Amino acid sequence: MTTPHLFQPLTLRGLTLKNRVAVPPMCQYSAIDGRAGDWHLQHYGAMAASGPGMIVIEAAGVVPDGRISPYCLSLHDDATEAAFTRLVGALKGFGGDSAIAVQLNHAGRKGGAARPWEGGGPAKSGGWSTLSASDVPFDSGWPTPRAATADDLAHLKQSFVDAAGRALRVGFDAIELHSAHGYLLHQFLSPLSNRRDDRYGGSLDNRMRFPLEVVEAVRAAWPADKPLGIRISATDWIDGGWTADESVVYAQAFKAAGIDYVCVSSGGLAANAKPPIGPGYQLPLARRIRHEVGIPTRAVGLIASPHQAETALAEGDADMIAVGRGFLDNPRWVWHAAQALGADIAYPPQYMAALGRLWPGAALARSQAAAE
Ligand SMILES: Cc1cc2nc3c(=O)[nH]c(=O)nc-3n(C[C@H](O)[C@H](O)[C@H](O)COP(=O)(O)O)c2cc1C
Repeated sequence: MTTPHLFQPLTLRGLTLKNRVAVPPMCQYSAIDGRAGDWHLQHYGAMAASGPGMIVIEAAGVVPDGRISPYCLSLHDDATEAAFTRLVGALKGFGGDSAIAVQLNHAGRKGGAARPWEGGGPAKSGGWSTLSASDVPFDSGWPTPRAATADDLAHLKQSFVDAAGRALRVGFDAIELHSAHGYLLHQFLSPLSNRRDDRYGGSLDNRMRFPLEVVEAVRAAWPADKPLGIRISATDWIDGGWTADESVVYAQAFKAAGIDYVCVSSGGLAANAKPPIGPGYQLPLARRIRHEVGIPTRAVGLIASPHQAETALAEGDADMIAVGRGFLDNPRWVWHAAQALGADIAYPPQYMAALGRLWPGAALARSQAAAE
């Protein structure tokens, strides 16, 4: 029996992922002063037990003011590092053998937001004054950010490097830089948010300069045998914004700077953009970057069924598939994908005795998958 594409390993530098399934970063807005707690333990723990090749812990601010909301994670001091050490140590003990990565972020002008269930937008309390590439607010009703000075840029870069040092001590297997969804690095890339007239604004080379400096600085601080990934929004989906053509050039540049994989998302920079949301709608963007740049690529966005994921890999759209909301709905997504695709995988020994014997649902799920 041939192993389905989704269950074939993938090696990135010194790290071999056991399969091509990834959990993408998903903010839980449940941290206390930036620290991961019990919610995170059960949330990531349930997913870790089913063994996706990689779990990317949600956006963590490299400084407190780099968080998306006052309730987001950060990795900037001993207390936040200790909380991550507890979380990652627990996840490594759950037997799923997933690589654990962290998404390092600075939210820039979109920082200090309210939690989604409090209505989103700028937080009514607990927020902070923001900084960005230029003094252009995200949308009406959002505060005007301060344009970053040369000193700010040096400090920001060092904050990413310091967070990478803490990520290494925590025991993360990989770092994923957040250069997507309208956060700070993306704010430098897009001409809609970057109106600078110095060497960090204007031409594409100039707009890419700060994100690439961050990539280079983190790559230099992160061990050579550990992968460094990046997440991008391949297009702003709006006239005058960041484009897929520019993403290809950016990917060539960050590949040369030592990035090992790219997760291709889109949007988030312009509040009035209209992305054509539908099943697998970002796959063509991932495919283009994979083929034109030749870098391992992770696809994401409304890829929910195992067969859809398998087809995307088989057709060469991507090297990995991230399933976000599918995992929130079903944290054992990997087990069900293995059943649907006929892959033989290991289960935690604690559950082995029950499989297919005490639980009639397993046989039912298999017969339904076969009929699919
Ligand atoms: C609750 C929630 C929180 C999210 N937080 C993040 C985040 O921290 N960083 C990020 O890059 N994307 C974030 N995203 C986007 C997801 O990683 C993913 O790209 C998106 O959900 C589309 O994939 P899906 O259709 O498989 O859910 C979040 C999505 C959700 C639903």
